[in-house]
Amino acid sequence: MDSEEKPMESEEKNIITEDDEFPSDLESKNDHHHHHHGEGHHGGFFHHGHRDERTENEKEEARKGSFLKVRHLVVEYTSDEEVIHAVNGVSFELNKGETLGLVGETGAGKTTIAKAIMRILPQPPARVRKGEVYLDGEDLMNAEEKRMLEIRGNKIAMIFQDPMTALNPVMTVGSQIAEAVHLHNAGISKADADKKAVEMLEMVGIPGERYVEYPHQFSGGMKQRVVIAMALACNPELLLADEPTTALDVTIQAQVLEMINDMKHKYNTAMVLITHDLGVVAQTCDRVAVIYAGQIVEYGTKFDIFDHPSHPYTNGLFGSLPKLDDDSDRLSPIKGLPPDPRQLPRGCSFCPRCPLAGPECDQHHIHMVEISDGHFCRCVKAVPMKKAEPQQEEKGHQEV
Ligand SMILES: Nc1ncnc2c1ncn2[C@@H]1O[C@H](COP(=O)(O)OP(=O)(O)OP(=O)(O)O)[C@@H](O)[C@H]1O
Ligand code: SF4
Ligand SMILES: [Mg+2]
Repeated sequence: MDSEEKPMESEEKNIITEDDEFPSDLESKNDHHHHHHGEGHHGGFFHHGHRDERTENEKEEARKGSFLKVRHLVVEYTSDEEVIHAVNGVSFELNKGETLGLVGETGAGKTTIAKAIMRILPQPPARVRKGEVYLDGEDLMNAEEKRMLEIRGNKIAMIFQDPMTALNPVMTVGSQIAEAVHLHNAGISKADADKKAVEMLEMVGIPGERYVEYPHQFSGGMKQRVVIAMALACNPELLLADEPTTALDVTIQAQVLEMINDMKHKYNTAMVLITHDLGVVAQTCDRVAVIYAGQIVEYGTKFDIFDHPSHPYTNGLFGSLPKLDDDSDRLSPIKGLPPDPRQLPRGCSFCPRCPLAGPECDQHHIHMVEISDGHFCRCVKAVPMKKAEPQQEEKGHQEV
């Protein structure tokens, strides 16, 4: 039993979720399925009445409702006997047509989360210690590799951080897209795949004649468009976009974002968008998860995060960028460095850099607090903004 399962812990006020996992707790864990969400919320929990009335079954139904569900994800990398705690208990949900932004500094674990969902982590060194991923109700963590190939072809696509790693320098861009089309449409003729590839090129704003050119003949922005065309060639239901516009200049970036947004609306695609860029978040995301040291430290709608940033880390990230309509700035640097992922602090992982840190911060695992409806913050100082009326909507997003 880990500390979170002791009754004493459940007396803590405002605990809204028990899904948090902490690496040091895992060794002693022998049961992956301790579904005790919603139990033990006895101290000042402002949703007390309505949430505790839900049965386990009702909560299970709520979980089923979301298109993508990631629960308790824990990923480590092992190198030279050292264990890097890259993802430390991440849970979120996403509906079709919605975009969730994952933001956070370099090394926070964003790419690892996306690759874990797609099951393309290099194993070893990576190891998924724990976690459940459901796509449209299907358990991806336990799916056969053969099934995952189909899913990666047809349901999930990923746009990788570096467009060049996704392109083959000795193949024409057109044939690469055609190959992607072919992969995703078993049985399609070569002629039809080529035709579709030309359409895809044109859809991303590249003249079809350039089908026969090689990646090096394309600008950085065009290469990224090709990568996006390949990702969209299978008309994915879930798009994992890892810094899709970071390598691009601002004008191209705007075009690419618009294109992704168009696709999203046209096909009702669910999207996880990884970015350092708060301007991109403002333009694209419905919800935002702020990631720090492999954990979600704040989660809410774009408006919650931009208008009421509550975690000291989020506030640090925003620096001089408090407004949604300002899309120019990037994350401003926060003093200090993220913790060593081989040796995470015992309590709050932001503690060493936090201007508000107090003696209570480094003692034990910090739980998420729901500070307003659907807006969560992992900080001992977080307090609910106001007593909310019991609300029925958006249950699917409350268990972050
Ligand atoms: N193949 C690997 N082997 C060992 N450690 C790795 C590997 N890939 C990532 N890591 C480590 O895992 C942690 C999370 O890395 P990840 O790439 O997921 O971060 P990120 O948030 O995507 O960062 P960035 O914004 O720079 O892309 C980091 O400490 C990183 O050094
Ligand atoms: S728990 Fe403490 S150290 Fe962590 S963010 Fe909150 S105030 Fe800062
Ligand atoms: Mg990354």
